[in-house]
Amino acid sequence: MTVYLNGNFTLVEKAKLSPFDRGFLFADGVYEGIRTYNSKLFRYDDHIKRLIKSLNEIKMKFIDTIKLEGIIYQLIKKNDIKDSAVIYLQITRGTQFPRKHSFPHESTGPNIFITAQNLNENKEQLINGVKVITDVDNRWMRCDIKSISLLPAVLANQKAVEAGAIEAILIRNGMITEGTNTNFFAVKNNCLYTAPESNLILSGITRKVVLELSKKLDIEIKEDFINTEDLRSFDEFFITSTTKEITPVVQINNLVVNARKPGILTTKLQEAFRKLTNQY
Ligand code: PDD
Repeated sequence: MTVYLNGNFTLVEKAKLSPFDRGFLFADGVYEGIRTYNSKLFRYDDHIKRLIKSLNEIKMKFIDTIKLEGIIYQLIKKNDIKDSAVIYLQITRGTQFPRKHSFPHESTGPNIFITAQNLNENKEQLINGVKVITDVDNRWMRCDIKSISLLPAVLANQKAVEAGAIEAILIRNGMITEGTNTNFFAVKNNCLYTAPESNLILSGITRKVVLELSKKLDIEIKEDFINTEDLRSFDEFFITSTTKEITPVVQINNLVVNARKPGILTTKLQEAFRKLTNQY
């Protein structure tokens, strides 16, 4: 596998980075996950806008966007990915020795790492839906920044896996925010509910696409937090992300949803999403 690291394409076995990388020591960096449809990067501009926002928020400057797009396409080619590719891109505040909390000197460049891999879509989950659990949202108060500091998300997601689920839906003060790596949606009386954009969630690109599609389909949207106590009153649920697209949720903890069948509106949105990505 060929990866990109700080200006070079190199075999992953040969990629070298100092252990004094601030990402390694402090999780001082941000990331993006992007995918292709029909060999084209999906919503690239939206992902780059979010990356720039994340970098700005952690007081880092951005590097040339056009060059980055070219690098990603070269990486896809070098890895001979013919089907869908998933891109992981990480930028840290660079290498600093000795270890020190405050920022390194301005002359210290960032460390930029990019991978491109074949995306193995989980068709079964898209068709039949998944089980999720709920857990406490004990992440920091800047979930709008796509930070590589992911320990609370890692722990909650592991708890889900150990419970035979694929995702943990996070709850802050009785309200559902989002999943550990997905946004969360619910449906009641043909109206779509999802948490509003704020510091408490990541503004998902798939979330944005789903809201755009819903408007086109004349589906009413309420960007409101869902109270966990009201969960039982909803008809359908789904989670969204770049790799999971629109994945129906058919069980939350012990609550079986719609006899484990993906809901009508969820399926309708999945179809609209598929149409959009097929034409991409
Ligand atoms: N996760 N919420 C969180 C906390 C996320 O980490 C992600 C993405 C999303 C969905 O965003 P998008 O639709 O732009 O992929 C929502 C990526 C895929 C990850 O951590 O690997």
